[in-house]
Amino acid sequence: MIEKITGCALEGIESHKVDIEVNISRGAKFLLVGLPDNAVKESHFRILAALKNNGYKIPVKEIIINLAPADLKKEGSSYDLPIAIGILCASEQLKPGLFKDFIVMGELSLDGKLRPVKGVLSMTIKAKQMGMKGIVVPQENANEARLVKGIKIVGACNLKELIQHFQGTKEILIKKETEVIKPFNSYLDFVDVIGQQIAKRAIEIAAAGGHNILLIGPPGSGKSMLAKRIPTILPNLTEKEMLETTKIYSYLGRFNQKNKLIYKPPFRNPHHTISDVALVGGGSHPKPGEISLAHNGVLFLDELPEFKRKVLEVLRQPLEDGQVTISRASGTVNFPSNLMLVAAMNPTPDGGYFSASSTRQSYHRTQQYLSKLSQPLLDRIDLQIEVESVSIDRLTSLKREEENSESIRKRVQKARKVQISRQSKINAQLENNEINKYCNLNEETLSFLRNASLKLNISARSFSRIKKISRTIADLFASKNIEIEHVAEAIQYRSLERLKQFLN
Ligand SMILES: Nc1ncnc2c1ncn2[C@@H]1O[C@H](COP(=O)(O)OP(=O)(O)OP(=O)(O)O)[C@@H](O)[C@H]1O
Ligand SMILES: [Mg+2]
Repeated sequence: MIEKITGCALEGIESHKVDIEVNISRGAKFLLVGLPDNAVKESHFRILAALKNNGYKIPVKEIIINLAPADLKKEGSSYDLPIAIGILCASEQLKPGLFKDFIVMGELSLDGKLRPVKGVLSMTIKAKQMGMKGIVVPQENANEARLVKGIKIVGACNLKELIQHFQGTKEILIKKETEVIKPFNSYLDFVDVIGQQIAKRAIEIAAAGGHNILLIGPPGSGKSMLAKRIPTILPNLTEKEMLETTKIYSYLGRFNQKNKLIYKPPFRNPHHTISDVALVGGGSHPKPGEISLAHNGVLFLDELPEFKRKVLEVLRQPLEDGQVTISRASGTVNFPSNLMLVAAMNPTPDGGYFSASSTRQSYHRTQQYLSKLSQPLLDRIDLQIEVESVSIDRLTSLKREEENSESIRKRVQKARKVQISRQSKINAQLENNEINKYCNLNEETLSFLRNASLKLNISARSFSRIKKISRTIADLFASKNIEIEHVAEAIQYRSLERLKQFLN
């Protein structure tokens, strides 16, 4: 008797259908085939104990379990439950075909309790795409699965309860669904940042176009404070983005316990001692790194030149492609990494600015410090601004009239809408050929940029960067054309280049 149960295998954060075929015939063997890893191979100990302890008979026959397709790697303990159900159906202790419209996944403990598994969100999305009626998961994963609408979720605590539910003898009580999408709220707000008009303006432009930004300033000038508030002015994630980002956390088993989709842009702030694998992802069982955890949000690298050069170099490809590709002997895995890079640094290793009175030693130290940032990496940072300290008088003044994040966010959202309707993507994602098409300058504006470039020693490389920023500034003003004043503003956001030129 052959029974077929449907399951899922994770490849990266995507799920693929797996058929779990159980064949019971004469003999006395337990065979598991179809590229299972060790955790899957060991499953029969758990399965047989769980079945016995719940009063089911173990067929004293040959049990062959085939996980198909065979070329897809099956990892982890989540096949316990579908295999156990398959054995019960194939041995006719349960009605064959009872679970045929469901994807079944879960780990069994020896007494038949169901333990949570990773990647349930992705599996539920797959179940819906496949047109299945529902998905069976351990109770602890049920809220995560319920984030996907329009599909039945059966979350069970143990094997017995699940079977009774399917036999119609006992209903599993479903906890009321929690509201998924909440209005944006955060305890951080730009209203707390006094002054810093130039920095705030540049940050607004960066957020509007999704541009990467570098904040340069002395210690205590408020760089970290500004950076941490950037997610508060980014638009909430779209439904597609919410699922994409939550899927990454679900894959790592780090689903947020408040049972919500990640609805606001994530903010990741790894320390500068981070390894390249932890930053971009990798490992023998490839795992997403910080850049994928920041997918659709912000990756904040504070004290940028303190990061190891190798770590910064591996960032280049994912920043360019919006995804990271990890190759392993077992195959290639992609993790998405569409993010806004925000970096901060001091202008010199000593903290303050380099001046004419600085010693020769400090000149060399500064040169060395800045040389850690390779040109190709800096080429991907469209805006570079200086953040100057706000005076104590200003900080302690009682008069406060700072704009809050919500009102900045409205402008950002409006500018993004303009970009999406013009080119179906935000300005930061424009390719070179698209820059020529969408960031076109008229004769007069172009000659202004040319003259300014000669006077200010702007490199040819910065040209397209300035064009992109000008486009975003024009979008913030809802201007169809890029005008001279937009270019004039964009030219100002290249502080690091100026700093480097000063030192050479
Ligand atoms: N413009 C400002 N408005 C309100 N508070 C400020 C402002 N600038 C600085 N502060 C105060 O100074 C503190 C230090 O700022 P922050 O940590 O952001 O500086 P930083 O530039 O990141 O410094 P470092 O280079 O040492 O990391 C803030 O937590 C805040 O309390
Ligand atoms: Mg800081």
